[in-house]
Amino acid sequence: MTLVKDSLEPIYQQIARYFRAQIESGRIAPGDRLPPTRDLARQLGIGRISVVSAYAQLQAEGLIAAHAGRGTYVSGGRAPVRGLDGASRQFPGAPDIPMREITRLAEQPGVIAFSGGAPPEEFLPVEALRHALNLVLDRDGAAAVAYEEADGYPPLRAGVTEYVSSLGIQCQPDDVLITGGTQQALDLVVQTVLGEGDALITANPTYLGLLDIVHVRRVRPVGVPVDGDGMRLEAVEAAIREHRPGLIYAAPTFHNPTGAVMPLHRRRQLLALAAQHNIPVLEDAVYHELGYRGTPPPPLKALDEHDLVLHASGFSKILLPGTRIGYVIASGPLRERLARVKQAADICTPGLNQRAIHVFLANGALIGHLNRVRLELRERCAAACLAASRHLPPGSQWAEPSGGLYLWVRLPDDGPTAAELYVTAIQHGVAYAIGTLFYTDGSGGRHIRLNFAAHPPARIEEGFRRLGAAWQAWQQTYAPAVRRAPIL
Ligand SMILES: Cc1ncc(COP(=O)(O)O)c(C=O)c1O
Repeated sequence: MTLVKDSLEPIYQQIARYFRAQIESGRIAPGDRLPPTRDLARQLGIGRISVVSAYAQLQAEGLIAAHAGRGTYVSGGRAPVRGLDGASRQFPGAPDIPMREITRLAEQPGVIAFSGGAPPEEFLPVEALRHALNLVLDRDGAAAVAYEEADGYPPLRAGVTEYVSSLGIQCQPDDVLITGGTQQALDLVVQTVLGEGDALITANPTYLGLLDIVHVRRVRPVGVPVDGDGMRLEAVEAAIREHRPGLIYAAPTFHNPTGAVMPLHRRRQLLALAAQHNIPVLEDAVYHELGYRGTPPPPLKALDEHDLVLHASGFSKILLPGTRIGYVIASGPLRERLARVKQAADICTPGLNQRAIHVFLANGALIGHLNRVRLELRERCAAACLAASRHLPPGSQWAEPSGGLYLWVRLPDDGPTAAELYVTAIQHGVAYAIGTLFYTDGSGGRHIRLNFAAHPPARIEEGFRRLGAAWQAWQQTYAPAVRRAPIL
């Protein structure tokens, strides 16, 4: 096999093409064994992930079959190609190729992917959206698809004002800036408040998309450790004294990835600390409404007596991620500066989508939808916790979430790291998000994040079973070899 390393055709496709040709020409026959991925990778001088990708591709085409612990064999005939199991979008803009490869592996047909960050497609109210779009086009005609006001469609800004008042936030429509999803709201605040090299305090682990922003805007992340209640305040205080940050990023409710909820007293203390040092707080509340066991404490913005909180949220996790409608609530000169940065970025957020979301707010459809989603999430969360206790290796640790989409698991110390296990997990047909991605300092090697919301209970059970089996297989097959030389 000759590989062309600078070809436009990815390496894994070259390998897959080679074996496909060999199989189809009969040079290798049904029942023949393919070389183990590790050996072939070493022989070809490439990363093991490329070989695993190639094998996964051939497996999806029905040309080969993997048998746990025994190897990979040429199949007798073509198996039907199964549909995608929820595409993973968890690593937006991941800078390096191995990361993209990892994401792509999770998207192989037949893999039960818990790696993504999105609500499942069956949660998305497509019919209600169709109704809203038709209503908007009939009512507003061309105005719905003309340039929109830079700050946002005024009735939506008023609708958001009313909506957040139900969460305890008192503001005026003028304080609301509509953005392209919560992600843009976070990015605009970072751009507006911080300059290159300035420090930003965040929980460690934190939201991956925040780390993307931090890297692109050349800001210095200062990660502070967390406990079951979120950021530890003595660490925040120490970080403030040492790093003189320009901004504190906090996701106090159903934190991604840990699921932690910051209790009311800690929220107040965090705000007091920010006020004492006069540091603005960027609140990310994107999961706030997704509680299924009681009501969480009010958002930081609702407790903000010093006007220090910039509140970012949106309609992705609770309604329709692809419409890309979010908002940031701020007042005073900062609000004006945010608007200017926003206009420079994209002139306006699509008016048609803003108007459709406004319909959901105005006719109460959002509230009904949220009630249904919460019930479903509660069921899926219970299924995930049960499946975790049944199938995850002994010594695994997790806290049962009370809201949000994720189970954050720490694997036992006496087994593989999340990265080491990943390829074996894919071979067993299951994917997760690797914990280290969420850390500012590359720690968290034994953590995995599982988006249980992505699948109905029976699939969750099967996915966790596969994960447990992958861990066992890894222990039996690779542990001795890896003790001599680490895989990734
Ligand atoms: C904590 C957090 N903030 C923001 C976002 C981005 O949300 P949006 O789709 O509204 O841009 C996500 C998406 O995963 C998230 O988990």
